[in-house]
Amino acid sequence: MDVCVLNKSSIDSSEYQLLLVDDSSLNLDTLLACLGDTYDLRVAINGESALAVIAEGYIPDLVLLDIMMPDMDGYEVCLRLKSNEKTADIPIIFLSALGSDTDQAKGLELGAVDYISKPCNPAIVSRRVQTHLELKDHKDRLRKMVRNKTLELTEAYKDLKLVHDQMLQQEKMASIGQLAAGVAHEINNPAGFIGSNLNSLQKYVGKMNKGITVMEQLIESVGQADLTKQLKEMKRTLKFHFIQEDIDDLIVESKDGIERIAAIVRNLKNFSRSEDDTLVETDLQKCLEGSLNIAWNEIKYKAKIEKDFHKTPPILCLPQQLGQVFINLLVNAAQAIEDQGVIIVSLEQINEWVVVKIKDNGSGISEENLQRVFDAFYTTKKADHGTGLGLSICHDIVQKHEGAISVESTVGEGTCFTIKLPISAKSLDAERV
Ligand SMILES: Nc1ncnc2c1ncn2[C@@H]1O[C@H](COP(=O)(O)OP(=O)(O)OP(=O)(O)O)[C@@H](O)[C@H]1O
Ligand SMILES: [Mg+2]
Repeated sequence: MDVCVLNKSSIDSSEYQLLLVDDSSLNLDTLLACLGDTYDLRVAINGESALAVIAEGYIPDLVLLDIMMPDMDGYEVCLRLKSNEKTADIPIIFLSALGSDTDQAKGLELGAVDYISKPCNPAIVSRRVQTHLELKDHKDRLRKMVRNKTLELTEAYKDLKLVHDQMLQQEKMASIGQLAAGVAHEINNPAGFIGSNLNSLQKYVGKMNKGITVMEQLIESVGQADLTKQLKEMKRTLKFHFIQEDIDDLIVESKDGIERIAAIVRNLKNFSRSEDDTLVETDLQKCLEGSLNIAWNEIKYKAKIEKDFHKTPPILCLPQQLGQVFINLLVNAAQAIEDQGVIIVSLEQINEWVVVKIKDNGSGISEENLQRVFDAFYTTKKADHGTGLGLSICHDIVQKHEGAISVESTVGEGTCFTIKLPISAKSLDAERV
C-alpha cells in the first residue's frame, strides 16, 4: 500500500491526524515541511491508497486532497468519502493546479471545505488547516451538546409523559369515584327498603302458612266430607304445595340478591370514600385477625387458613381501610379455589416495612391478565359475582399509605399478593431503643 506514517510531532496539537493525498513528491515535501512539526501526518500517493487506509479504520481529522491523480482523481475520492456515513464529516481541502472558478466550485459542491491552489504557499496551507480543524472541533462539540440535550429532552419527555399518564389515571379514578358515589347513593335507599320488606315478607309468609295449616286442621275437624274435598280440589288447582315450597326459596334468593347489591354498594362507597381520614397506630396482626373473621364465611367451605405471623411494630394507618384490603384479597383467594385449598397469610418485618402476603393455591392468573387485575371494573367473574373493583380499591388504599401492592401468579398453581407498608418513624425509633 502506498501509505506511510510520518513525523509524529512533539507539539500538543499533534493529536490531530491529517491525511495528505498527492502523487507529486514535490508537493508532498512542501506540505510535510509546513505541517510535519505540528500534526500527525499520513501520506497516500494515490486515491485508492487513501480510501484503503481509511477503510482499515484510520479516520483522519482532515484530508488534504490533490485533484489531478492517475486512476482515481480527487473528486472521486471526495465523493466516496462523503457518501460513507463514517467519513462524511471529515473536512477535505482540495489542492490543485487547476485554478479556475469552475474547478473550485465543483470541489466545494462535492462537499470540500476549502480549495488551495498549487503551488502551495506554506503559510496559507498552515493557516487554513488550523482554521478548519478549529471549525471541526466546534462542530464536534456542538454535535455532542445537541446529542446530550436531545438525550436530556427525551428523558424529560418520558418523565413528563409518566406524570401526565398518572394524572390522567388519577382524574379517571376521581371521576369513576364520583360516579360510583352517585350510583351507590341512588341504589342504597331502594336496596335498603327492599331488604327490609323481604324480611317482613318472610315473617308474614311464615305466619300465613301457619294460619293456613290451622284452618285446614279446623276444616278437617268439622268432618264435612264435601268441604274437605273442595279444599283439596282448590289446593290442587292452585298448586298450593308447590307455591308454599317455592315462596320460601324465592324469598331466600331475593334476600341473597339484595345482599349482593348491598355488597356492591359497600364496595362503591369504599371506592369513592372521602379523604378526611385520621391515621391510627395499629397492630397489623390484630387487623389481619379481624379481616379473617369477617371473611371467614366466604372462606370456610373452600380453604384452610395457615397463619405465619411474626411480631411487627405498629404502623400509622387507616385500619378500617387496610382491613378492607385484606378482606378483598382473602375473598378473592377463596373465590379462586375451585374445590378445597389452602390460603397462607403471613406477616413479617423486612427492614423498614411491614410485609403482608396472602397466598392461595387456586386457579392462578395468566400473565396477560396479571397486568389488568388492578384496573377498575376488571373482573373475570360472572356478572352477578364480581364488580371488578376489589383490587382497584386495594391498590388505591395501599398507595394512600405510601406502600406497594404486587402480585405473582402461576396458572394452575396459585397466586400470591404482597403488600408492603412503611413503618412509621416513631415506631422505628421505639424499636431501636
Ligand atoms: N387470588 C386470585 N386468584 C386468581 N385470580 C384472582 C385472584 N385475585 C384476583 N383475581 C382476578 O382478578 C380479577 C379482579 O379482582 P377484583 O377483586 O378487582 O374484582 P372481582 O373479585 O372480580 O370483583 P369484586 O372484588 O368487586 O367482587 C378477578 O375477577 C380475578 O379474575
Ligand atoms: Mg374481588
